Amino acid sequence: MRSSSSIEIEPLNPVIGAVVRGVDLTESLTDAMFQQIHDAWMEHLVLFFRDQPITPERHLEFGKRFGELHIHPAAPYAHENPQLMVIHTDKDSKRQNGSGWHSDVSADEEPPLGSILHLHHVPTYGGDTLFANMYAAFEALSEPIQGLLLELEARHVSDYTGQYGDHKPQRAFPSATHPVVRTHPVTGRQALFVNAGFTRRILGVSRNESNALLTMLFEHIANPAFQCRFQWQKDSIAMWDNRCVQHFAIWDYYPESRSGIRVTVKGDKPF
Ligand code: SIN
Repeated sequence: MRSSSSIEIEPLNPVIGAVVRGVDLTESLTDAMFQQIHDAWMEHLVLFFRDQPITPERHLEFGKRFGELHIHPAAPYAHENPQLMVIHTDKDSKRQNGSGWHSDVSADEEPPLGSILHLHHVPTYGGDTLFANMYAAFEALSEPIQGLLLELEARHVSDYTGQYGDHKPQRAFPSATHPVVRTHPVTGRQALFVNAGFTRRILGVSRNESNALLTMLFEHIANPAFQCRFQWQKDSIAMWDNRCVQHFAIWDYYPESRSGIRVTVKGDKPF
């Protein structure tokens, strides 16, 4: 087993994202290594690992180090285990999972705290994923707007109709009300928590005001100054913190295929 001192963390930029080297995720992690990865995750929000041909069993084991595993309300899964969410796009796909800014399943009452995606098949070019820092997005707003948003809640709604085919056992369309700005339970920092994928309405204001605020915030969130972009290779892994990160998977590789498995970790009610 490798000593924890062999881990190297290389930030992609000052705002979000770091590549982790010197870790073999096909092996069980020592507590010291887990702690280093966890600390780096809290600091950089998204971590990337290269050349990690993990089995589904190891993937599940790694995910469980961060908490109980989440089951997606509607997505297909692998190996008859709903904790192994399938991410797959090919020439016959009608859509690609995650191609729009979102935080995973934010319409759950207790949205997942994080997601760990392993891609085992990648297109020749493209299929990158963008990640955006929602602490930075909140902190870049003016004080009056921050003050307003801190008072507000928003309705998050899922509708997976026609998105994932018909499979069992799950088939739920959750919806939930969350604060527009949430406090991260580990770092204590405030992050914007509205996203174009799920947030439909800011509550306690008129529909016009809600639309105007959401349009402004969705544009603001998409500022490249808050982002990093990850170029996948076969057996890359990315893990992102849904409490303070949004992501956008780019479907620019048609008719090629892209496939992987996501393990998602349960979170708690945003506050
Ligand atoms: C997702 O989990 O939203 C998909 C991310 C990706 O495929 O890069």
